[in-house]
Amino acid sequence: MKIDDWDQIWVGAGLATMVADGRSNQEIADGAIALKGDRIAWIGSSAEGEQRAQACGLVVSDAKGIWITPGLIDCHTHLIYGGNRVDDFEQRMSGASYEQIARAGGGINSTIKMTRAATTSSLRDSAAVRLMRLMAEGVTTIEIKSGYGMSLEAEHAMLQVAHDLGRDYPITVRKTFLGLHALPAEYADDRQTFVKLVCGPWLSALHSAGLVDAVDAFCESIAFSVAETAKLLEAARLLDIRAHVHAGQLSELGAPQLAAQYRALSAAHLEFLSAEGAAQIARAGTVAVLLPTAYYTLQQSKPPPIPLLREMGVAMAVATDSNPGSSPCSSILLALNMACSLFGLTPQEALAGVTRNAARALGLESEIGTLEVGKRADLAFFRIVRPAELCYGLGVNPCERVIRGGTARDLRC
Ligand code: NIG
Ligand code: FE
Repeated sequence: MKIDDWDQIWVGAGLATMVADGRSNQEIADGAIALKGDRIAWIGSSAEGEQRAQACGLVVSDAKGIWITPGLIDCHTHLIYGGNRVDDFEQRMSGASYEQIARAGGGINSTIKMTRAATTSSLRDSAAVRLMRLMAEGVTTIEIKSGYGMSLEAEHAMLQVAHDLGRDYPITVRKTFLGLHALPAEYADDRQTFVKLVCGPWLSALHSAGLVDAVDAFCESIAFSVAETAKLLEAARLLDIRAHVHAGQLSELGAPQLAAQYRALSAAHLEFLSAEGAAQIARAGTVAVLLPTAYYTLQQSKPPPIPLLREMGVAMAVATDSNPGSSPCSSILLALNMACSLFGLTPQEALAGVTRNAARALGLESEIGTLEVGKRADLAFFRIVRPAELCYGLGVNPCERVIRGGTARDLRC
Protein backbone atom coordinates (compact mmCIF):
# COMPACT_ATOMS: atom_id res chain seq x y z
CA MET A 1 0.00 0.00 0.00
CA LYS A 2 1.30 3.47 -0.88
CA ILE A 3 2.16 5.47 2.25
CA ASP A 4 -0.20 8.41 2.31
CA ASP A 5 1.26 11.78 3.06
CA TRP A 6 -1.58 13.33 5.10
CA ASP A 7 -1.57 15.99 7.82
CA GLN A 8 -4.74 14.96 9.64
CA ILE A 9 -7.58 12.48 9.48
CA TRP A 10 -10.96 12.12 11.17
CA VAL A 11 -12.65 8.76 11.46
CA GLY A 12 -16.06 7.82 12.85
CA ALA A 13 -17.82 10.73 11.15
CA GLY A 14 -20.97 11.06 9.12
CA LEU A 15 -19.94 12.70 5.87
CA ALA A 16 -22.50 14.79 4.03
CA THR A 17 -20.33 15.10 0.93
CA MET A 18 -23.11 17.04 -0.84
CA VAL A 19 -22.13 15.37 -4.10
CA ALA A 20 -25.38 15.08 -6.07
CA ASP A 21 -26.94 11.64 -5.83
CA GLY A 22 -30.11 11.72 -7.92
CA ARG A 23 -32.57 13.96 -6.12
CA SER A 24 -30.60 13.77 -2.89
CA ASN A 25 -27.03 14.18 -1.68
CA GLN A 26 -24.41 11.54 -1.03
CA GLU A 27 -23.97 10.62 2.63
CA ILE A 28 -21.33 8.32 4.07
CA ALA A 29 -22.08 6.86 7.48
CA ASP A 30 -19.04 5.94 9.58
CA GLY A 31 -16.75 7.75 7.18
CA ALA A 32 -13.24 9.16 7.29
CA ILE A 33 -11.73 12.24 5.75
CA ALA A 34 -8.03 13.12 5.44
CA LEU A 35 -6.50 16.51 4.71
CA LYS A 36 -3.16 17.54 3.27
CA GLY A 37 -2.32 21.23 3.51
CA ASP A 38 -5.39 23.20 2.49
CA ARG A 39 -6.90 20.33 0.45
CA ILE A 40 -9.08 17.30 0.98
CA ALA A 41 -6.71 14.40 0.34
CA TRP A 42 -8.85 11.32 0.84
CA ILE A 43 -12.41 10.24 1.71
CA GLY A 44 -13.55 6.73 2.54
CA SER A 45 -14.69 4.40 5.29
CA SER A 46 -13.49 4.64 8.88
CA ALA A 47 -12.01 1.14 8.69
CA GLU A 48 -9.87 1.94 5.67
CA GLY A 49 -8.96 5.37 7.05
CA GLU A 50 -7.67 3.83 10.30
CA GLN A 51 -5.65 1.26 8.40
CA ARG A 52 -4.06 3.84 6.13
CA ALA A 53 -3.36 6.23 8.99
CA GLN A 54 -1.63 3.44 10.91
CA ALA A 55 0.51 2.60 7.90
CA CYS A 56 1.82 6.14 7.73
CA GLY A 57 2.04 6.69 11.48
CA LEU A 58 -0.62 9.39 11.58
CA VAL A 59 -2.64 9.87 14.75
CA VAL A 60 -6.37 9.63 14.00
CA SER A 61 -8.99 11.94 15.45
CA ASP A 62 -12.21 10.23 16.43
CA ALA A 63 -15.17 12.35 15.34
CA LYS A 64 -17.49 10.25 17.56
CA GLY A 65 -20.40 10.29 15.16
CA ILE A 66 -20.31 14.00 14.40
CA TRP A 67 -21.49 15.03 10.92
CA ILE A 68 -19.07 16.83 8.63
CA THR A 69 -20.35 18.96 5.77
CA PRO A 70 -18.56 21.23 3.34
CA GLY A 71 -18.10 24.69 4.89
CA LEU A 72 -21.40 26.50 4.33
CA ILE A 73 -21.61 29.25 1.72
CA ASP A 74 -23.79 32.35 2.05
CA CYS A 75 -23.87 33.40 -1.60
CA HIS A 76 -25.99 36.59 -1.36
CA THR A 77 -25.58 39.22 1.35
CA HIS A 78 -25.56 42.98 1.87
CA LEU A 79 -23.57 42.60 5.09
CA ILE A 80 -22.02 46.08 5.22
CA TYR A 81 -24.17 49.11 6.03
CA GLY A 82 -24.59 51.99 8.40
CA GLY A 83 -27.38 52.23 10.97
CA ASN A 84 -30.43 50.00 10.77
CA ARG A 85 -34.01 50.18 9.52
CA VAL A 86 -36.05 49.69 12.65
CA ASP A 87 -38.05 52.77 11.52
CA ASP A 88 -39.10 50.92 8.38
CA PHE A 89 -40.03 47.93 10.48
CA GLU A 90 -42.29 50.02 12.68
CA GLN A 91 -43.89 51.56 9.61
CA ARG A 92 -44.45 48.15 8.01
CA MET A 93 -45.97 46.89 11.24
CA SER A 94 -48.41 49.79 10.97
CA GLY A 95 -49.41 48.78 7.47
CA ALA A 96 -46.98 50.56 5.10
CA SER A 97 -45.49 48.40 2.36
CA TYR A 98 -41.79 48.05 1.43
CA GLU A 99 -42.54 49.80 -1.88
CA GLN A 100 -44.43 52.67 -0.19
CA ILE A 101 -41.58 53.28 2.23
CA ALA A 102 -39.04 53.20 -0.63
CA ARG A 103 -41.07 55.61 -2.76
CA ALA A 104 -41.34 58.02 0.17
CA GLY A 105 -37.51 58.21 0.32
CA GLY A 106 -37.05 55.67 3.13
CA GLY A 107 -35.93 52.11 2.49
CA ILE A 108 -32.60 51.64 0.72
CA ASN A 109 -32.16 55.41 0.36
CA SER A 110 -32.19 55.90 4.11
CA THR A 111 -29.47 53.24 4.46
CA ILE A 112 -27.46 55.06 1.79
CA LYS A 113 -27.55 58.20 3.96
CA MET A 114 -26.52 56.27 7.09
CA THR A 115 -23.79 54.39 5.24
CA ARG A 116 -22.30 57.55 3.78
CA ALA A 117 -22.33 59.13 7.23
CA ALA A 118 -20.62 56.17 8.90
CA THR A 119 -16.87 55.88 9.37
CA THR A 120 -15.09 53.04 7.63
CA SER A 121 -14.17 51.50 10.95
CA SER A 122 -17.75 51.53 12.22
CA LEU A 123 -18.92 49.91 8.95
CA ARG A 124 -16.29 47.26 9.44
CA ASP A 125 -17.10 46.65 13.10
CA SER A 126 -20.85 46.33 12.62
CA ALA A 127 -20.40 43.99 9.64
CA ALA A 128 -17.86 41.93 11.60
CA VAL A 129 -20.49 41.17 14.27
CA ARG A 130 -22.81 39.73 11.62
CA LEU A 131 -19.93 37.94 9.94
CA MET A 132 -18.95 36.21 13.18
CA ARG A 133 -22.51 34.99 13.74
CA LEU A 134 -22.52 33.42 10.29
CA MET A 135 -19.06 31.96 10.83
CA ALA A 136 -20.18 30.41 14.10
CA GLU A 137 -22.83 28.49 12.13
CA GLY A 138 -20.20 26.96 9.82
CA VAL A 139 -20.07 29.54 7.02
CA THR A 140 -16.63 29.55 5.38
CA THR A 141 -17.44 31.56 2.21
CA ILE A 142 -19.59 34.65 1.90
CA GLU A 143 -20.55 36.98 -0.91
CA ILE A 144 -20.86 40.64 0.13
CA LYS A 145 -22.44 43.31 -2.06
CA SER A 146 -21.87 47.04 -2.06
CA GLY A 147 -24.88 49.17 -3.00
CA TYR A 148 -25.42 51.43 0.01
CA GLY A 149 -22.79 53.95 -1.05
CA MET A 150 -24.02 54.92 -4.50
CA SER A 151 -21.12 57.32 -5.03
CA LEU A 152 -17.75 56.14 -6.28
CA GLU A 153 -16.11 57.04 -3.00
CA ALA A 154 -18.70 55.35 -0.79
CA GLU A 155 -18.92 52.22 -2.98
CA HIS A 156 -15.14 51.99 -2.89
CA ALA A 157 -15.22 52.22 0.90
CA MET A 158 -17.82 49.42 1.16
CA LEU A 159 -15.91 47.10 -1.17
CA GLN A 160 -12.68 47.86 0.65
CA VAL A 161 -14.33 46.89 3.95
CA ALA A 162 -15.49 43.63 2.33
CA HIS A 163 -11.95 43.00 1.12
CA ASP A 164 -10.50 43.76 4.57
CA LEU A 165 -12.96 41.40 6.29
CA GLY A 166 -11.73 38.60 4.01
CA ARG A 167 -8.13 39.47 4.86
CA ASP A 168 -8.66 39.76 8.62
CA TYR A 169 -11.08 36.89 9.29
CA PRO A 170 -10.72 33.22 8.36
CA ILE A 171 -13.45 33.31 5.72
CA THR A 172 -13.44 33.68 1.93
CA VAL A 173 -15.16 36.87 0.77
CA ARG A 174 -16.43 37.44 -2.78
CA LYS A 175 -17.05 41.11 -3.49
CA THR A 176 -19.94 42.22 -5.68
CA PHE A 177 -20.35 45.76 -7.00
CA LEU A 178 -24.10 46.34 -6.67
CA GLY A 179 -23.90 49.46 -8.81
CA LEU A 180 -27.62 49.77 -9.50
CA HIS A 181 -29.39 49.40 -6.16
CA ALA A 182 -31.29 52.67 -5.61
CA LEU A 183 -31.07 56.00 -7.36
CA PRO A 184 -29.39 58.37 -4.89
CA ALA A 185 -31.16 61.66 -4.15
CA GLU A 186 -28.58 63.82 -5.96
CA TYR A 187 -29.42 62.08 -9.27
CA ALA A 188 -33.19 62.09 -8.76
CA ASP A 189 -33.65 64.21 -11.87
CA ASP A 190 -30.92 62.60 -13.93
CA ARG A 191 -31.11 58.83 -13.94
CA GLN A 192 -29.26 58.57 -17.22
CA THR A 193 -26.15 60.28 -15.93
CA PHE A 194 -26.14 58.04 -12.85
CA VAL A 195 -26.43 54.84 -14.90
CA LYS A 196 -23.69 56.04 -17.25
CA LEU A 197 -21.33 56.79 -14.37
CA VAL A 198 -21.96 53.40 -12.73
CA CYS A 199 -21.42 51.47 -15.97
CA GLY A 200 -18.45 53.56 -17.10
CA PRO A 201 -15.94 55.24 -14.80
CA TRP A 202 -17.15 53.76 -11.51
CA LEU A 203 -17.09 50.14 -12.65
CA SER A 204 -13.77 50.56 -14.33
CA ALA A 205 -12.16 52.29 -11.31
CA LEU A 206 -13.41 49.69 -8.83
CA HIS A 207 -12.42 46.88 -11.14
CA SER A 208 -8.91 48.30 -11.58
CA ALA A 209 -8.65 48.53 -7.79
CA GLY A 210 -9.27 44.76 -7.64
CA LEU A 211 -12.51 45.23 -5.72
CA VAL A 212 -15.00 43.63 -8.13
CA ASP A 213 -15.50 39.87 -8.41
CA ALA A 214 -18.97 40.38 -9.95
CA VAL A 215 -21.62 43.04 -10.54
CA ASP A 216 -25.27 43.12 -9.50
CA ALA A 217 -28.37 45.25 -10.10
CA PHE A 218 -31.75 45.55 -8.40
CA CYS A 219 -33.96 45.19 -11.47
CA GLU A 220 -37.37 46.16 -10.12
CA SER A 221 -40.20 48.64 -10.48
CA ILE A 222 -38.90 50.67 -7.51
CA ALA A 223 -35.28 50.47 -8.64
CA PHE A 224 -33.82 49.97 -12.16
CA SER A 225 -35.41 48.91 -15.43
CA VAL A 226 -34.42 45.98 -17.62
CA ALA A 227 -32.81 48.40 -20.10
CA GLU A 228 -30.76 50.08 -17.35
CA THR A 229 -29.74 46.75 -15.88
CA ALA A 230 -28.70 45.57 -19.35
CA LYS A 231 -26.28 48.48 -19.58
CA LEU A 232 -24.46 47.32 -16.44
CA LEU A 233 -24.42 43.70 -17.55
CA GLU A 234 -23.05 44.71 -20.94
CA ALA A 235 -20.33 46.90 -19.37
CA ALA A 236 -19.38 44.00 -17.10
CA ARG A 237 -19.29 41.57 -20.02
CA LEU A 238 -16.81 43.80 -21.84
CA LEU A 239 -14.53 43.63 -18.80
CA ASP A 240 -15.07 39.88 -18.47
CA ILE A 241 -16.85 40.26 -15.12
CA ARG A 242 -19.69 37.88 -14.22
CA ALA A 243 -23.05 39.14 -12.97
CA HIS A 244 -25.79 38.51 -10.45
CA VAL A 245 -29.25 40.06 -10.79
CA HIS A 246 -31.95 40.82 -8.21
CA ALA A 247 -34.82 39.58 -10.32
CA GLY A 248 -38.54 39.22 -9.74
CA GLN A 249 -38.70 40.16 -6.05
CA LEU A 250 -41.79 42.35 -6.27
CA SER A 251 -42.94 42.26 -9.90
CA GLU A 252 -42.38 40.55 -13.20
CA LEU A 253 -40.33 42.77 -15.50
CA GLY A 254 -38.40 40.12 -17.43
CA ALA A 255 -35.27 40.40 -15.29
CA PRO A 256 -34.71 36.61 -15.16
CA GLN A 257 -34.67 36.52 -18.97
CA LEU A 258 -32.09 39.32 -18.99
CA ALA A 259 -29.96 37.45 -16.44
CA ALA A 260 -30.10 34.41 -18.71
CA GLN A 261 -29.20 36.42 -21.78
CA TYR A 262 -26.00 37.54 -20.05
CA ARG A 263 -25.35 34.09 -18.55
CA ALA A 264 -25.46 35.63 -15.09
CA LEU A 265 -24.06 33.46 -12.33
CA SER A 266 -27.26 33.93 -10.36
CA ALA A 267 -30.72 35.46 -10.35
CA ALA A 268 -32.04 36.16 -6.85
CA HIS A 269 -35.49 36.31 -5.21
CA LEU A 270 -37.63 35.06 -8.15
CA GLU A 271 -40.99 35.27 -6.41
CA PHE A 272 -42.20 36.55 -9.78
CA LEU A 273 -40.90 34.10 -12.38
CA SER A 274 -42.67 32.99 -15.56
CA ALA A 275 -42.30 29.57 -17.19
CA GLU A 276 -40.35 31.29 -19.97
CA GLY A 277 -38.02 32.97 -17.45
CA ALA A 278 -37.42 29.64 -15.69
CA ALA A 279 -36.71 27.88 -19.00
CA GLN A 280 -34.21 30.55 -19.97
CA ILE A 281 -32.25 30.58 -16.70
CA ALA A 282 -32.20 26.76 -16.87
CA ARG A 283 -30.65 26.88 -20.35
CA ALA A 284 -28.15 29.56 -19.30
CA GLY A 285 -27.06 27.62 -16.20
CA THR A 286 -27.95 30.62 -14.02
CA VAL A 287 -28.48 29.58 -10.39
CA ALA A 288 -31.75 30.60 -8.72
CA VAL A 289 -30.86 32.15 -5.36
CA LEU A 290 -33.79 31.82 -2.96
CA LEU A 291 -34.02 34.31 -0.10
CA PRO A 292 -36.73 33.06 2.26
CA THR A 293 -35.86 35.37 5.16
CA ALA A 294 -36.52 38.40 2.90
CA TYR A 295 -39.82 36.86 1.80
CA TYR A 296 -40.69 36.33 5.45
CA THR A 297 -39.63 39.82 6.56
CA LEU A 298 -41.67 41.50 3.85
CA GLN A 299 -44.59 39.17 4.61
CA GLN A 300 -44.94 38.26 0.97
CA SER A 301 -47.60 35.79 -0.04
CA LYS A 302 -46.40 34.34 -3.34
CA PRO A 303 -43.34 32.12 -2.94
CA PRO A 304 -40.99 31.44 -5.85
CA PRO A 305 -42.39 28.69 -8.12
CA ILE A 306 -40.30 25.83 -6.74
CA PRO A 307 -42.09 23.06 -8.71
CA LEU A 308 -41.36 24.98 -11.92
CA LEU A 309 -37.69 25.44 -10.99
CA ARG A 310 -37.47 21.71 -10.25
CA GLU A 311 -39.19 20.77 -13.46
CA MET A 312 -36.81 22.93 -15.51
CA GLY A 313 -33.77 21.60 -13.66
CA VAL A 314 -32.65 25.00 -12.35
CA ALA A 315 -30.00 24.73 -9.63
CA MET A 316 -31.34 26.35 -6.44
CA ALA A 317 -29.19 28.11 -3.85
CA VAL A 318 -30.36 29.49 -0.49
CA ALA A 319 -28.86 32.58 1.15
CA THR A 320 -29.54 34.99 4.01
CA ASP A 321 -29.70 38.21 1.93
CA SER A 322 -28.46 39.74 5.21
CA ASN A 323 -29.40 43.44 4.93
CA PRO A 324 -31.02 46.08 7.14
CA GLY A 325 -34.29 46.36 5.23
CA SER A 326 -35.70 43.13 3.88
CA SER A 327 -33.62 40.63 5.84
CA PRO A 328 -32.08 41.70 9.15
CA CYS A 329 -30.80 38.16 9.56
CA SER A 330 -27.37 36.72 10.32
CA SER A 331 -28.35 33.06 10.38
CA ILE A 332 -27.84 30.72 7.46
CA LEU A 333 -29.52 27.97 9.51
CA LEU A 334 -32.67 30.07 9.80
CA ALA A 335 -32.59 30.59 6.02
CA LEU A 336 -32.34 26.80 5.63
CA ASN A 337 -35.35 26.28 7.85
CA MET A 338 -37.42 28.87 6.03
CA ALA A 339 -36.41 27.54 2.60
CA CYS A 340 -38.14 24.33 3.68
CA SER A 341 -41.00 25.65 5.77
CA LEU A 342 -41.97 28.65 3.59
CA PHE A 343 -40.83 27.63 0.09
CA GLY A 344 -41.30 23.87 0.29
CA LEU A 345 -37.75 22.81 -0.48
CA THR A 346 -36.83 19.40 0.81
CA PRO A 347 -34.07 19.50 3.43
CA GLN A 348 -31.80 17.84 0.86
CA GLU A 349 -32.50 20.62 -1.64
CA ALA A 350 -31.99 23.33 0.97
CA LEU A 351 -28.65 21.84 2.05
CA ALA A 352 -27.48 21.72 -1.57
CA GLY A 353 -28.51 25.38 -1.65
CA VAL A 354 -25.92 26.42 0.95
CA THR A 355 -23.15 24.15 -0.37
CA ARG A 356 -22.95 22.74 -3.93
CA ASN A 357 -25.34 25.17 -5.61
CA ALA A 358 -24.15 28.20 -3.62
CA ALA A 359 -20.62 27.46 -4.84
CA ARG A 360 -21.96 27.46 -8.38
CA ALA A 361 -23.76 30.76 -7.80
CA LEU A 362 -20.33 32.25 -7.06
CA GLY A 363 -18.50 30.46 -9.87
CA LEU A 364 -16.46 28.55 -7.26
CA GLU A 365 -17.76 25.04 -7.85
CA SER A 366 -14.36 23.61 -8.76
CA GLU A 367 -12.94 24.73 -5.38
CA ILE A 368 -15.65 24.43 -2.72
CA GLY A 369 -19.22 23.28 -2.06
CA THR A 370 -18.69 19.51 -1.81
CA LEU A 371 -16.39 17.16 0.08
CA GLU A 372 -14.31 15.77 -2.75
CA VAL A 373 -10.64 14.93 -3.08
CA GLY A 374 -8.72 17.96 -4.36
CA LYS A 375 -11.24 20.53 -3.17
CA ARG A 376 -10.34 23.08 -0.53
CA ALA A 377 -10.48 21.72 3.01
CA ASP A 378 -13.35 23.91 4.22
CA LEU A 379 -15.35 21.74 6.64
CA ALA A 380 -18.10 22.31 9.19
CA PHE A 381 -18.70 19.82 12.04
CA PHE A 382 -22.22 19.53 13.42
CA ARG A 383 -23.55 17.61 16.43
CA ILE A 384 -26.68 16.26 14.69
CA VAL A 385 -28.19 12.85 14.02
CA ARG A 386 -28.46 13.44 10.27
CA PRO A 387 -28.02 16.32 7.84
CA ALA A 388 -31.73 17.21 7.59
CA GLU A 389 -31.51 18.30 11.23
CA LEU A 390 -29.67 21.43 10.06
CA CYS A 391 -32.96 22.59 8.53
CA TYR A 392 -35.11 21.56 11.46
CA GLY A 393 -34.07 23.72 14.40
CA LEU A 394 -35.12 27.28 15.06
CA GLY A 395 -32.49 29.39 16.78
CA VAL A 396 -30.40 26.29 17.38
CA ASN A 397 -26.75 26.14 16.38
CA PRO A 398 -25.23 22.65 16.44
CA CYS A 399 -21.93 23.74 14.84
CA GLU A 400 -19.01 22.52 16.96
CA ARG A 401 -15.96 23.07 14.83
CA VAL A 402 -14.91 24.64 11.56
CA ILE A 403 -11.85 23.89 9.45
CA ARG A 404 -11.04 26.49 6.85
CA GLY A 405 -8.37 25.76 4.25
CA GLY A 406 -7.11 22.88 6.39
CA THR A 407 -6.76 24.98 9.56
CA ALA A 408 -9.01 24.83 12.63
CA ARG A 409 -10.91 28.04 13.17
CA ASP A 410 -11.81 29.42 16.57
CA LEU A 411 -15.61 29.53 16.58
CA ARG A 412 -15.58 32.66 18.71
CA CYS A 413 -13.12 34.54 16.51
O1 NIG B 1 -32.07 41.82 -1.68
N1 NIG B 1 -33.86 44.07 -3.10
C1 NIG B 1 -32.88 44.77 -3.03
N2 NIG B 1 -31.91 44.66 -2.13
C2 NIG B 1 -32.07 44.01 -0.88
C3 NIG B 1 -32.81 44.85 0.06
C4 NIG B 1 -32.07 46.00 0.42
C5 NIG B 1 -32.72 46.85 1.46
O2 NIG B 1 -33.96 46.86 1.64
O3 NIG B 1 -31.93 47.55 2.12
C6 NIG B 1 -32.70 42.64 -1.05
O4 NIG B 1 -33.80 42.36 -0.55
FE1 FE C 1 -30.31 41.16 -2.00
